Amino acid sequence: MDESKTKENEGRSTRPPATILVIFGASGDLTSRKLIPGLCNLAEDDYLPENFIVIGSSRSKLSDDDFRAKVYEGVKKYSRRPISPAVWEKFAKRLHYQPCDGEKVGDVEALKGRMEALAAEQPGVRFNYVYYLAMAPQFFGPIASNLKEVGLIEPYAKGARQTSVVVEKPFGHDLESARELNTIIRQSLAEEQIYRIDHYLGKETVQNILVFRFANGIFEPLWNRKYVDHIQISVCEDIGIGTRAAYFDQNGILRDIVQNHVLQMLALLCIEPPNSLSDADSIRDEKAKVLRSIKRMTPEEVRANTVRAQYTKGTVGGEPAVGYLEENGVAPDSKTDSYVALKLEIDNWRWSGVPIYIRAGKRLPKRITEITIFFNKAPDSLFKGRQVGELEHNVLSIQVQPKEGMSLRISSKPPGPRMRVRPVEMDFTYDSSFGVASPEAYERLLLDVMKGDATLFTRNDEIEESWDLLAPIFKEWESSNPPPVYEYEAGTWGPVEADQLINSTKDSWRKL
Ligand code: BG6
Repeated sequence: MDESKTKENEGRSTRPPATILVIFGASGDLTSRKLIPGLCNLAEDDYLPENFIVIGSSRSKLSDDDFRAKVYEGVKKYSRRPISPAVWEKFAKRLHYQPCDGEKVGDVEALKGRMEALAAEQPGVRFNYVYYLAMAPQFFGPIASNLKEVGLIEPYAKGARQTSVVVEKPFGHDLESARELNTIIRQSLAEEQIYRIDHYLGKETVQNILVFRFANGIFEPLWNRKYVDHIQISVCEDIGIGTRAAYFDQNGILRDIVQNHVLQMLALLCIEPPNSLSDADSIRDEKAKVLRSIKRMTPEEVRANTVRAQYTKGTVGGEPAVGYLEENGVAPDSKTDSYVALKLEIDNWRWSGVPIYIRAGKRLPKRITEITIFFNKAPDSLFKGRQVGELEHNVLSIQVQPKEGMSLRISSKPPGPRMRVRPVEMDFTYDSSFGVASPEAYERLLLDVMKGDATLFTRNDEIEESWDLLAPIFKEWESSNPPPVYEYEAGTWGPVEADQLINSTKDSWRKL
């Protein structure tokens, strides 16, 4: 089959309706690093709407051409593949800039005028509106309220113009602030109009969890407490906190990575089969149930089942790295966690009694995100006295990044006259099986929001459940007699106490 034709057809059938996308916070990092490069990659694949207008907006006074030049630098630097000059040229014509302080209603009126003027250049087209709030959460409420006041948010109803607002994390700092934030934005928007982004849900390997579980007959029967010994999820990063101390030191890794990315991956991994894959709430209902079923810890359990730590100076990738407390902008007596290890349990019919170990940290030896399922060991009765040693777990591992793929470890007999047992890995990588690089998470998510598909966005109840389940941990960590903040040298796999946490159950962290 002619591949270019397939791509063309695919492009047509997945194109969203006419859209005006307004990016608030357009002079910031996210716009240059992720959003505009993501849109250009969608343009490269011919996935963008036929009628499409992008308006960047922030307080800076820029002309359309200044803005185009600025973001083009980002495209050249951060796009996952080169964008051809012809695609950029066409895309740049759709790109505009409107200075706007979203907290000032007059500015938002002017933005409305600009949107209407640009839309009028394409007579007869009704545009949907997508507002991307690439900024801190304290601005979400005022911007949404001003957009509504000037008539840029239509009520959610069948047949009405689709109006969607995308909000970035952090969605709250704890349960109470997340609820407050939600109440504020719900004054201007219906839940169906709010797209809370968690970019991990846009990663190919994370979406593949659903296909893997529900499109294969052989794994689902094993996907439960009878056959699974334990689960590990690791989100390891070699980078430190860079220039983000102001944000990170107020949050820590439990809030930055676990509350959202890790719990979302865990929820997908452990859900019951949803009613449908094509209605957003079926999957989100099931994820919310998993999050609700995760056991809330008592104060004693927080001490036994959580380990937090900070990196001290060391070497990462051959380069010297300063300690967390020496990072620019970090309070010298900070107790913020740059590493966390947890043991959780989902207290439901399918998973009760299966330990789930989670670790996430900055300044570890390398960047790797992996979800691993350890199946029960086979009994070794047939191999007794044969110097085979204890049989190992069958291990299914989903590597989310950087080497996207999966592997299954099984026991095999190595060639030779003696009966021996050795583990071997059966591998699948996206690279070698599909021969194309995966799109960036933001590409898929931007496309989905334009199509009005909220499946890969987090619903409010999921957010609240995640904060609720972490609340006892924060409470204990912030108490007058808190558990210690341990140390690990930058460039190592975390503190020894994290090894003890998992060793206490005779398991150990998977070597990454
Ligand atoms: C972000 C966190 O949500 O995810 C960052 O705020 C982290 O601290 C990043 O570095 C990791 O994303 P990825 O896609 O590189 O794994």
